[in-house]
Amino acid sequence: MSSSTKSTANALTMPRHVAIIMDGNGRWAKLKGKLRTFGHKAGVEAVRASVRYARENNIQALTLFAFSSENWKRPEEEVGVLMDLFTLVLKSEVKRLNKNGVRLQVVGDTARFGDKLVSLINKAEKLTEHNSELVLNIAANYGGRWDIVNACQQLAAKVKQGELSAQDIDETLFDQHTSLHGLPEVDLLIRTGGDHRISNFLLWQMAYAELFFSSELWPDFDEHVFHQAVLDFSSRQRRFGLTGEQIESEEVAPC
Ligand code: FPP
Repeated sequence: MSSSTKSTANALTMPRHVAIIMDGNGRWAKLKGKLRTFGHKAGVEAVRASVRYARENNIQALTLFAFSSENWKRPEEEVGVLMDLFTLVLKSEVKRLNKNGVRLQVVGDTARFGDKLVSLINKAEKLTEHNSELVLNIAANYGGRWDIVNACQQLAAKVKQGELSAQDIDETLFDQHTSLHGLPEVDLLIRTGGDHRISNFLLWQMAYAELFFSSELWPDFDEHVFHQAVLDFSSRQRRFGLTGEQIESEEVAPC
């Protein structure tokens, strides 16, 4: 990494948790006269660059939206290529991630994936579970609404079994039943590809996230674009419902 993208502790306010909607693979490929799947394959290098940047800049967690609950509706061939690509990437990258101290977690309704992929996911999660340099969450067959409904179902079951009463449910307890429990909430959401929307990503976890939209298509994403997003994040005043004056006087710590 160049020194221009490596931050120093005092110079920037770093986000603790960054989430990325990796959009634009299909358009990138089309611009080159290739099939959409060519764009997905090229997107893997941008995934590597984003993990590298996050690790080298002490970001605690990076969550990448790889496959949404709605992506099953894409042409069968494209879904097949994406599944093969996840399998391939898991096989080829896990050793390196582990060597670099990265903890890998796959979040989403993974039960719908084939046995082979589920077994690879389980092995990769087990192998890396004690790593602490960076938590890399791959959101696969994930939807923000699914995550919220899933938490509700777990809580409802506990109430039914008498482990909890409905009055015990507060934001902290609810959060503990969501996919990214235990991690800081998302500070920064980056979306590539030029669209300005959240697309059913981390609805609960992004309540106070700063949003950064880039017109770059995902395969062109690299450390420099990531750094631009971090610079932009660092320049923002996060108020969490307080006034600017309160934040400036530092009398009231934001929650
Ligand atoms: C969105 O671009 C991208 C995806 C649905 C797939 C993302 C997958 C990768 C980057 C490859 C592998 C990643 C991992 C983590 C193993 P799009 O197809 O919607 O692009 P478009 O908007 O130009 O059509």
